[in-house]
Amino acid sequence: MPDREDDMTVAEGPRLQLDEIQGIVLRDRPSPYVGMYILLRVDDSGTGRQLMGRLAELVDSAADWWQPTLPALLNVGLTYRGLEALEVPPASLNSFPAEFRQGMAARAEFLGDTGESAPARWEPPFGNGQVHVVLSLLAADQESLAVVLERARQAHARLPGIQVVHRQDFYQLSTGRTSFGYKDGIGNPTIEGSGAAMPPAWGPALKAGEFVLGYPDQTGNLPPMPEPEVLGRNGTFVAWRKLHTRVAAFRKYLHDNAGSPDEEELLAAKIVGRWPSGAPLILASERDDPALGADAQRNNDFHYQEADPHGAICPHGAHARRANPRDSEIIGDVHLHRMIRRGTNYGPPLPQGVLTDDGADRGIVFVFIGTHLDRQFEFVKSQWLNDGNFTGLDREKDLLTGDNDGTGIFTIPQRPVRRRLHGVERFVITRGGEYFFLPSIGALRWLAHPNA
Ligand code: HEM
Repeated sequence: MPDREDDMTVAEGPRLQLDEIQGIVLRDRPSPYVGMYILLRVDDSGTGRQLMGRLAELVDSAADWWQPTLPALLNVGLTYRGLEALEVPPASLNSFPAEFRQGMAARAEFLGDTGESAPARWEPPFGNGQVHVVLSLLAADQESLAVVLERARQAHARLPGIQVVHRQDFYQLSTGRTSFGYKDGIGNPTIEGSGAAMPPAWGPALKAGEFVLGYPDQTGNLPPMPEPEVLGRNGTFVAWRKLHTRVAAFRKYLHDNAGSPDEEELLAAKIVGRWPSGAPLILASERDDPALGADAQRNNDFHYQEADPHGAICPHGAHARRANPRDSEIIGDVHLHRMIRRGTNYGPPLPQGVLTDDGADRGIVFVFIGTHLDRQFEFVKSQWLNDGNFTGLDREKDLLTGDNDGTGIFTIPQRPVRRRLHGVERFVITRGGEYFFLPSIGALRWLAHPNA
């Protein structure tokens, strides 16, 4: 058995300015944690800029992330409307990518946010231009959260032009499982130069520019960066989505399409690509293996193509396989479509075994982080999750998260004949979302005096 410490290496690469990059970009969260998103509207550019100046002193960077002396962590993002509200100079505003300027609601058709998920049905204040700033507060327990909450409150206290427009509590269970019952947040990329330990995983460490502006990305070029350089460098983008999960309906669908509890569990693993514990289906093809699921040295160290070219173990349509096909034969270069995910839970879990909806709002706040909203988040959502063409599945959508309408299908390759499930409905409803820019610490200082 190899020495566990020796299995960890650190991905080399250009030196990143860790004390400038917000901690949430490059660092894992404590486990378990509690947190709160506070959404703010800026009605006065002067006080908005003051807020940026105060936040520059309070935000935690990747250099001081999660030291035991820090009670909790604070990060900050701005929407395009937020940058406008600060009266950032037009040349700067125009240098942001088109999809960010438009905002997530304007991209709804493309992202599959239609019908019940359409922006017209989102919870206010999402998508209506009222969200300007997000504060993300994270702590290991409620007591520490109260401390950072006070820090955040002081940041916008006595600033008359700043309004709190929404609060969203979130948490991680000690099992790491989210509302459908599956451990989440396992398949994240390793980033060159981040200084983070690199457990064995499929694929190389990725170029820092895929996730932090100002460094070369996988193409060898610098990603397009907002101007001036002090504003763009060491920043990145976030796609933030509040996703309501229809847990009872999902369980009922499994129940109706399987003959026994064991079959239900296997069917669900075929749909997700992992078992509830996080064990990858490809390494545990018949039943869950909690020891494997809990072992960070093994639970992300697998390929698809050699072991399972036809999807007989893990279907090509399984959520995790579509979202990151790894070495599967697909159209395109998989490394250009990776993402950092910092998703989390909201709402109470549905007790085990319950198949009827109790009316509670529960789900996932999905958080994407990357420098290319278009070729990373939007591409994966529209081309890989909501369309199956890239992997020979024609128009078959992701069963778990796709914008299905009751006529969806899910194909399970098996011999002698493949199995096809029909009547797939929508199990995930978008309740709101925004694109945020996550500035560097230096950029926050610049935002305090953008015309100086
Ligand atoms: C409510 C919605 C969602 C649920 C319940 C969900 C659940 C999961 C689960 C259980 C996993 C496997 C564990 C892991 O590797 O972390 C996973 C992986 C993943 N999901 Fe999702 N997900 C959701 C939405 C999305 C969306 C909207 C995207 C992208 C636009 C996405 C992208 C990914 C990626 C990239 C992986 C990692 C695959 C890998 O590297 O092996 N997910 N998700």
